[in-house]
Amino acid sequence: MKNAKMIVDKAFRISEVDKRIYGSFIEHLGRAVYGGIYQPDHATADENGFRKDVLELVKDLNVPVIRYPGGNFVSNFFWEDSVGPLSERKPRLDLAWRSLEPNTFGLGEFARWTEKAGADIMMAVNLGTRGTADACNLLEYCNHPSGTKYSDLRIKHGIKDPYNIKLWCLGNEMDGEWQLGKKTMHEYGRVAQETAKAMKLIDPSIELVSCGSSFMDMPTFPQWEATTLEYDYDYVDYVSLHQYYGNLNNDSTDYLAKCDEMDAFIRTVISTCDFVKAKKRSKKTINLSFDEWNVWFHSKSEEEDITTNHPWQIAPPLLEDHYNFEDALLVGLMLITLLKHADRVKIACLAQLVNVIAPVMTEKDGTAWRQTIYYPFLHASRYGRGTVLQPLVDGPSHPTLEHGEISDIVSVAVYNEEAEEVTIFAVNRNLEEDILLTADVRCFQGYQVKEHIVLENDDLKAENGPDGEKVMPKQVAAGKVEAGELQTMLKKATWNVIRLGKIK
Ligand code: AHR
Repeated sequence: MKNAKMIVDKAFRISEVDKRIYGSFIEHLGRAVYGGIYQPDHATADENGFRKDVLELVKDLNVPVIRYPGGNFVSNFFWEDSVGPLSERKPRLDLAWRSLEPNTFGLGEFARWTEKAGADIMMAVNLGTRGTADACNLLEYCNHPSGTKYSDLRIKHGIKDPYNIKLWCLGNEMDGEWQLGKKTMHEYGRVAQETAKAMKLIDPSIELVSCGSSFMDMPTFPQWEATTLEYDYDYVDYVSLHQYYGNLNNDSTDYLAKCDEMDAFIRTVISTCDFVKAKKRSKKTINLSFDEWNVWFHSKSEEEDITTNHPWQIAPPLLEDHYNFEDALLVGLMLITLLKHADRVKIACLAQLVNVIAPVMTEKDGTAWRQTIYYPFLHASRYGRGTVLQPLVDGPSHPTLEHGEISDIVSVAVYNEEAEEVTIFAVNRNLEEDILLTADVRCFQGYQVKEHIVLENDDLKAENGPDGEKVMPKQVAAGKVEAGELQTMLKKATWNVIRLGKIK
């Protein structure tokens, strides 16, 4: 057995957590909307056609903000088609996913659904096949009180009060060859600058996200960020990051090192934002919106087959990754990585929420169920609110093929002063050896372990399904705090949530 030491202290403060880092994403893609959150003929459907079983699972995740309606979908989205009386709405070709969009669920329905889910909307505008004028019209429809063409149209559609959507994405992955209306960095920089300027004239209270690179290995990363921010720096508030990982080589040790790549990605984007800040002699800091992150690779071949050989279906089963235990470990590691950057990452969206690379899945005439990745997200969203503390870890490491020597333990702590609780999130990503952790928690006088929750499984490939959950959290014997020191076991290949609270 190996040993590790840790110090958790209030003085090692990173930042307050912005709750929006527990955001998620619903795109008009596959069965996310139709057959996911919305299925009027399902046994649990409410008067709006919303699946109540799905809503319950989503509500438990306590997701504060949900990005909509894409994703790639937004780059050819005609928002006018998705509002107004259902009888007048027409289907359209969704070119991003080569599907048929029936438009029976649109902006108004999504606003109603998010209200029930207890979340705010993060709206994206189409800067692919459309542009500034269309983005302004949509903002006017959503946020302007009344007395103009689009605000009155909203009122005519039965929505008296504005939606007041505060967070807006200026397009999606505009550097990608697959994107409708792909742009060069200069083209995007200009259109983002002018659109942002116009949108803030309509509603100065909104916040805007400039499109960053589609992923870290894009050939134009990070020049894309540097150049586009030179154009729109003064008008936007965040730059976006997107990243998905997969265990393509079936090397689990290397797979669990991918969070270190995510960490490097975040650091590079921060440096790039600050480089532009320095160049512009600006006092303003641009923060990060990691508005697409997850594991995505299991379903790639089905996706290719459907979009190539079976196009123009309504809600085909696209991107339905079935996650296993090691995917849940990586999702936990990615959450810890986001928390460690809480000073600059203010928004993050687990992509996505239902059926499409999602923690929640549905059976057409059956239940909604939790994938393995549901649990680390649930724990982080539930217990990871407050002040992020950087734990000092002195622990062992192990070699990997592609990532060199990596630490066994990846960890972060979150202190909730009001609740007098501190939670240590830790993954032991050593697949062979348990580690005895000794944590110095002297700073938290009178605190004792409330519970130690663990996600573990002997089979890294174990999956959940509609008939049962092989991967679900359990409580393990909690270590004790004695003389300011906590001793507890971090078993090999585990996600750990160690909750300490003040004994009253
Ligand atoms: O989330 C799935 C897709 O991944 C999104 O539509 C796109 O933005 C990204 O490439």
